[in-house]
Amino acid sequence: MSVQLAKETLFLQNAEMGLGAWAWGDTSMWNFGHGYTEIDIEQAFQTSLAAGVILVDTAEIYGAGRSERFLGQFLKTATTPVLVATKFMPYPWRLNRSALMHSLDYSLERLGQEHVDLYQIHFPFPPMPVEFWVEELAKVVKSGKTHTAGVSNFNKIQMQRAYTVLAKYNIPLASNQVEYHLLNRTVEKNGLLDRCKELGVRLIAWSPLAKGLLTGKYTLKSPPPGLRSHQPLGRMKSLSVLITIMTEIGQGHHGKTPGQVALNWLICKGALPIPGAKNAKQAAENAGAIGWRLTPDEVKALDEASDKFTR
Ligand SMILES: NC(=O)c1ccc[n+]([C@@H]2O[C@H](COP(=O)([O-])OP(=O)(O)OC[C@H]3O[C@@H](n4cnc5c(N)ncnc54)[C@H](OP(=O)(O)O)[C@@H]3O)[C@@H](O)[C@H]2O)c1
Repeated sequence: MSVQLAKETLFLQNAEMGLGAWAWGDTSMWNFGHGYTEIDIEQAFQTSLAAGVILVDTAEIYGAGRSERFLGQFLKTATTPVLVATKFMPYPWRLNRSALMHSLDYSLERLGQEHVDLYQIHFPFPPMPVEFWVEELAKVVKSGKTHTAGVSNFNKIQMQRAYTVLAKYNIPLASNQVEYHLLNRTVEKNGLLDRCKELGVRLIAWSPLAKGLLTGKYTLKSPPPGLRSHQPLGRMKSLSVLITIMTEIGQGHHGKTPGQVALNWLICKGALPIPGAKNAKQAAENAGAIGWRLTPDEVKALDEASDKFTR
C-alpha cells in the first residue's frame, strides 16, 4: 500500500538517525557522573549535530527530568536547527486527561522551548485506555506545543487505535518508538514494522545497539556493568559469532565498526535508530553509521546470523 506522507511528519521520514538522551543525568540504569559527566554529554550533543544527527530523543522520566534539562541547556548554544522529541509517561496515578498537557508544559519549561517537534506517549499503560491519552495528544498538536504526535511501545492494535483517534482530527500518527535491533527482531516478525510502513508511521528503534552489546565491547568475560550485566548466558555466547560477522562486513565498507553495521542494518530495514551516546567518541562513531548502505546480501547475511539466536 502506498501512503501519502503528511508534510509535517516528513522530518522524521527523512531523518536517517537520531540521538538518544536517556543516559543524560540518569543514575538508575546508566550511572551518570561515573565515567561520564555533563561535559561529555554536551560534547556528544555537539558532535552529533556537526555530523548531521539533529534529532534528539528524551523523556520526562529520563533522569527524573535531568535529561530534558541538560538538553535545554545545550539547545541554548546550538547554532544549527535541532529537532526535539520527548515523551509523556501515563503513570497509573495519572487519571486526569489534563495531565498530558501539564506534563508537556513542564517538559517545555525544562527544555526552554515553546514547542517540541515530536511528543510521544511513552507506554500504553493501563488503567486508562489508549484513546483517553491520544485524544489529549491531538489537543496538544492543535495547540502548537508539539508539531507532531507519536507513540512508543504500542503493538499493532494499540497503534491502530491511536492512528484512528488522531485521524478524526486530521492529524497523522508520526511515529511508534519500539525496541528493535539485531538481538530483538520482534517488530519484523510480528508485522509491526510492515504495518508502520503501510500507515506512513515512522518506526523509531530504541536501544539500537542493544544497550552497547552490539558494539562488540562486551563479552562473556567482560560483561556490561550494573543492571545490564543480567544477560542470558546463551545470548552472550552467540553474540561473539554475530560480532565476528559484523566485523567482517564492516571491513568491506572501509572498516566500519560492528556498532555502525548494527545501526546501518536498522536503517536498511526502514527504521530510524536513536543510539544513546555518553561522549563525543561514541557520538562520532555512531554518526559514522549514516550516509552509506549495506548491500541487500549483507543485510540477508546479518538476518541469517541473528536468526540463529533470536528465534
Ligand atoms: N521508548 C522507550 O521505551 C525507550 C526505551 C529505551 C531507550 N529508549 C531511547 O532509545 C535511546 C537509545 O537506547 P539505549 O540508550 O537504551 O541503548 P543503545 O543506544 O542501544 O546503547 C547506548 C549505550 O551503548 C554504549 N555506546 C553507545 N555508542 C557507543 C559506541 N559508539 N561505542 C561504544 N559504546 C557505545 C553506551 O553505554 P556504555 O558506554 O555504558 O556501554 C551508551 O549509553 C535512549 O537514549 C532513549 O532515547 C526508549
